[in-house]
Amino acid sequence: MTNSPSTLLVTGGAGFIGSALVRQWLEHESASIVNLDNFTYAGLQASLEEVIDHPRHRLVVGDIADPSLVTRVLAEHAPKAIIHLAAESHVDRSIDSPPAFAVTNVVGTCVLLDAAVRYWRTLTGQPRDAFRFLLVSTDEVFGSAQADRPFTATSPLAPNSPYAATKAAAELLARAFRKTYELPLLVVNPSNNYGPRQLPEKLIPKMILAAAADVPLTLYGDGLHQRDWLHVDDCCRALRLVLDQGEPGSRYLIGADHCQTNLHVAEMICDLVDELLTTGQAETDRLPAPAGNSRRRLIRHIEDRPGHDRRYAVDPRPLREELGWSPQIPFAKGLRDTVRWYLENRSWTRQAQEAVQQADS
Ligand SMILES: NC(=O)c1ccc[n+]([C@@H]2O[C@H](COP(=O)([O-])OP(=O)(O)OC[C@H]3O[C@@H](n4cnc5c(N)ncnc54)[C@H](O)[C@@H]3O)[C@@H](O)[C@H]2O)c1
Repeated sequence: MTNSPSTLLVTGGAGFIGSALVRQWLEHESASIVNLDNFTYAGLQASLEEVIDHPRHRLVVGDIADPSLVTRVLAEHAPKAIIHLAAESHVDRSIDSPPAFAVTNVVGTCVLLDAAVRYWRTLTGQPRDAFRFLLVSTDEVFGSAQADRPFTATSPLAPNSPYAATKAAAELLARAFRKTYELPLLVVNPSNNYGPRQLPEKLIPKMILAAAADVPLTLYGDGLHQRDWLHVDDCCRALRLVLDQGEPGSRYLIGADHCQTNLHVAEMICDLVDELLTTGQAETDRLPAPAGNSRRRLIRHIEDRPGHDRRYAVDPRPLREELGWSPQIPFAKGLRDTVRWYLENRSWTRQAQEAVQQADS
């Protein structure tokens, strides 16, 4: 039992953003971290390899929708704050089976909020004043953005996919818990994250692994859907900053202000894989494509996804102006490093591909 007032509880810390946050937290913060994750197909032990035995990291395997477990975790570890990331996160799966998304993203969030209020009410003095609940939502709750009109903190919720609808529902619950119980709660809406250890069912790793394997890179529709790509380490820096300095009751949009079409991203990936493999820059066992035979030839267009939002774009200025955050990793560099990471970390990618295949079957 930690029972330290300087412990952070993170949910979903075995996932893509969560595991990056755990690593960054342990490197830059002095507080301990309790990581609550029930290891769905999206939670990988391999993503926690570097931190699993860290003396300030405690892994609790359990479901956020289990009220007695969540209550016990809060009582035992007495966190000073919660960052809630655990979710079903893949839009395509939400189209195939929406109820699983409602169970985790809505009911699970409600259970966590309820337990958090009860726990927070047991606190007194400084720990009570300083307690924070940070809900990690998504820019997808706002629907599709108009050209040159990025989402702002006052954009209406208008989700188009079952995934986005469950995230919007979680936000509404959070709002109600703030209004009804005065829980000191903040919401963030990050744009599309990319970086190492993202499951290969998501666009960028899927394209990298297809290009590396010399198999078709499939894009929905014309591929001209735009996303504001944000490096996961920049996102985690923003989460830590908002937790530390954000105003309870506020919403912060996190984006890199760098919209790209999916087609352009796929082409960049093909070029990077060509380059890194043909020049032998990546330490990998894969064979290069024959010279002059660009992997761009592998790009294919398939029928568009129903309800597919054309564009996501957020206005990150308030986060920059109020809290002084700005992204540190330019997209070209972040993408190159990410491609290299996937080419060089075959053991992780094999496990991730198996996890996705099992979830598909
Ligand atoms: N990845 C992005 O681009 C992005 C962008 C904006 C917002 N978000 C949000 O950030 C959060 C994290 O996203 P991610 O990409 O890291 O997701 P992910 O799918 O990679 O990881 C989710 C993690 O949550 C865990 N989990 C799922 N259900 C759980 C439950 N019932 N109890 C405990 N743990 C559970 C999984 O095991 C996994 O470790 C999500 O809330 C997502 O909606 C993600």
